[in-house]
Amino acid sequence: MNKRTRRTVIAGNWKMNMTPDQAKKAIEDLRPLVKGKGRCDIVLCVPAIDIPAAVKAAKGSRIKIGAENVHFEPKGAYTGEISADMLVSSGVEYVIVGHSERRQYFGETDETVNKRVKAALNAGLKVILCVGEVLAQRDLGITKEVLSMQTKIALSGVTEDQLKNLIIAYEPVWAIGTGRVATPDQADEGNGFVRAAVAELYGKKAAEALTVQYGGSMNEKNAAELLARVNVDGGLIGGASLVAEKFAAIVDAAQ
Ligand code: 13P
Repeated sequence: MNKRTRRTVIAGNWKMNMTPDQAKKAIEDLRPLVKGKGRCDIVLCVPAIDIPAAVKAAKGSRIKIGAENVHFEPKGAYTGEISADMLVSSGVEYVIVGHSERRQYFGETDETVNKRVKAALNAGLKVILCVGEVLAQRDLGITKEVLSMQTKIALSGVTEDQLKNLIIAYEPVWAIGTGRVATPDQADEGNGFVRAAVAELYGKKAAEALTVQYGGSMNEKNAAELLARVNVDGGLIGGASLVAEKFAAIVDAAQ
């Protein structure tokens, strides 16, 4: 396995943007722009309230719908939360787990990320696991250690067979929503650190087969250069995924 045989996945993370009506329109706008047989998979991770509209609007197209989070318990007294089975039965195929905004603002820890990863995989969802260092950690020179620790804790108890439903997104926190994109070298190196951690857990072959995305201020202008790197198998895109033409241009750059 190498870059050419790994799945390339371009995923949008809409975060807290778009009403259901806006979601429908955005997907209708995107559909004709990504029509045809491309060699990359396309995913839009949308707010929970938008899922029914998004699934309906994407039906019969290349666009798969994902959620932005999932709870780890199957059901019960967890006000405001959504289970993996609820997502599956709503037509969701992917889910983001461990996004840095969840870690920063909502008390997400490596341990709860691990629980969510396992719950989602066990329910048959495809997981986009996010890892990434904050600027202070990069400045301390411990990016490799941080990525390795986050990856290893998140994957504790995940079987090698389940890796086929796992994508890891390297998202340096300092590059998210800041317009300060990682250089292609930094993205390639970070993704390589993630792949090395996976190799330590499951062996080189499994790690080589894994799709590792880069995320953080990726846009239609810088995507081609980032995606050309050997360890960059796709992108997780925030701001630029909200505009159909920009997101479609990133898909074009990937294929
Ligand atoms: P931006 O593309 O807006 O920097 O967001 C990246 C991100 O957090 C994707 O999950």
